Amino acid sequence: MGRSKLSILGISGSPRKAATDFVVRKALEYAEKKFQVETDYFHFYGKKINFCLHCDYCIRTRKGCIQKDDMTEVYAKLEEADTMLFGTPVYNGTLSGQLKTLFDRCRALVAKNPKALKNKVGAGIAVGGDRVGGQELALLTIHSFFLIHKMIPVSGGALGANLGGIIWSKDRGAKGAEEDTEGFKSVYKTVDRLVETTMLLRKI
Ligand SMILES: Cc1cc2nc3c(=O)[nH]c(=O)nc-3n(C[C@H](O)[C@H](O)[C@H](O)COP(=O)(O)O)c2cc1C
Repeated sequence: MGRSKLSILGISGSPRKAATDFVVRKALEYAEKKFQVETDYFHFYGKKINFCLHCDYCIRTRKGCIQKDDMTEVYAKLEEADTMLFGTPVYNGTLSGQLKTLFDRCRALVAKNPKALKNKVGAGIAVGGDRVGGQELALLTIHSFFLIHKMIPVSGGALGANLGGIIWSKDRGAKGAEEDTEGFKSVYKTVDRLVETTMLLRKI
């Protein structure tokens, strides 16, 4: 925080460079062009992020996580960002294990710095192979993370982006996602609201 420009952190919770990666990048490009915001990005492709071990080192010491893996990079990005856009593929009707693991590992982040996520604005995008494959539950699970960490969850609102961005990839990766022009409207409406809310909070 503290920069003149807003900084949006986009995260793709897919283990591959395919539909979710494509959609989150497009959302960030849109935000940069329309609002001249700064963006940052993290994806799981080729990354190693272990499960939380519930060893309670973070709670006992307040020094962060005992595990040293690619989560170190994510912690820095999360602390730096003003606002966050989490994208997930839909796995078994909800978010991916990768994104859930990132959420669980944030216990160490907030144990060390209780204000790390507080009052930051968050939104989600869910990308399913099926048109109605669990995108809404995936988004609600992302919103639960925001609520638990005293963040401010937003969506694009009624008439198109009720809980956030919803994409139907038809299991055809980036190409399938790109064809979902209706879905992209929900993504862009969600980005609009994310930026609007963050600007309101920062009184820009
Ligand atoms: C383990 C697994 C479970 C999946 N479960 C669902 C599901 O419940 N609902 C759905 O719509 N698509 C499901 N899919 C399909 C993916 O959501 C879809 O292909 C999506 O575009 C993948 O995102 P990606 O291209 O960014 O990796 C599943 C895919 C995998 C690998």
